[in-house]
Amino acid sequence: MGGSIVVVGSLNADLWVRLDRHPLPGETVRGETAITLPGGKGANQAVAAANLGARVAMVGAVGRDAHADVALSLLRASGVDLTHVREVDGPTGLAIVSVDRAGENSIVVVGGANERVDAAFVESAAVAIAAAGIVVLQGEIPASGTAEAVELATGRIILNLAPVVPLPPEILRSANPLVVNEHEGALALGLLRGANTAPSGSDMADHAAIVLGLLAEGVPTVVMTLGAAGALVGEGPAAPLVHLPAPHVHVVDSTGAGDAFVGALAQRLADGESLVAASRFAARVGAFACTRRGAQPSYPTADDVLPDV
Ligand code: RIB
Repeated sequence: MGGSIVVVGSLNADLWVRLDRHPLPGETVRGETAITLPGGKGANQAVAAANLGARVAMVGAVGRDAHADVALSLLRASGVDLTHVREVDGPTGLAIVSVDRAGENSIVVVGGANERVDAAFVESAAVAIAAAGIVVLQGEIPASGTAEAVELATGRIILNLAPVVPLPPEILRSANPLVVNEHEGALALGLLRGANTAPSGSDMADHAAIVLGLLAEGVPTVVMTLGAAGALVGEGPAAPLVHLPAPHVHVVDSTGAGDAFVGALAQRLADGESLVAASRFAARVGAFACTRRGAQPSYPTADDVLPDV
């Protein structure tokens, strides 16, 4: 077991629905299965890291409703420290997740209690955040909460800018690494250049150009997740980018695969691995997560055999 990880982020109940195909606007389609599962990008990443053996604490909020128990269930089972998860008035965060035959998902998130995780809330966990070897952040709590966590952190910051929220450039530049997909990466580049939109132009179609642009704007390291195409790792503007392929798997449901990647990355970085080695492992964990239903229930433990490239 390596250094400790604190995840500051969202907890949700995922209302997970399997359907043949996603509806068009104005259309009604029949769902086949509906089940409520634990989710939320922050909680997903915490569970992914803890399942793999990391020492993890979570900072976040649930509401006073039946969904709170769902949202906390696998965090509890995987041994995540919940001292800094508070119950607040109002509903627990809720995500409506629909997954089609090809395993493609579409997600609507209602923040609920997660909207309460602002700067003052995060400040109340200052000691734990300051003591963490790694602080993991996403974009499902108010931007002020994320910025406060960065302010308090003394360890390494992993910022998964999903979804993209308008954070100040200095917060993006504190990420080591910034973890984004290609769309998030383009939007993050816009934020660094003082725009609220993604830069336009043919060069932005090029994943490598986006990663190099983020590095040139002062982000120390960048990991761009590319789904089945793997990941691109950039360690400073002078170092060559490293492309890591993802193992080929039969995709049942890709929900939360990106979170599995981030959690595994955190676990390996906490263990002292290099960014490239940790990202290679994380790509295998992300692929594993695609082979099972749901987010947290799909994550491997240290005993599972991971797919290889
Ligand atoms: O990344 C997947 C997650 O996004 C789901 O678990 C859902 O809760 C939303 O936050």
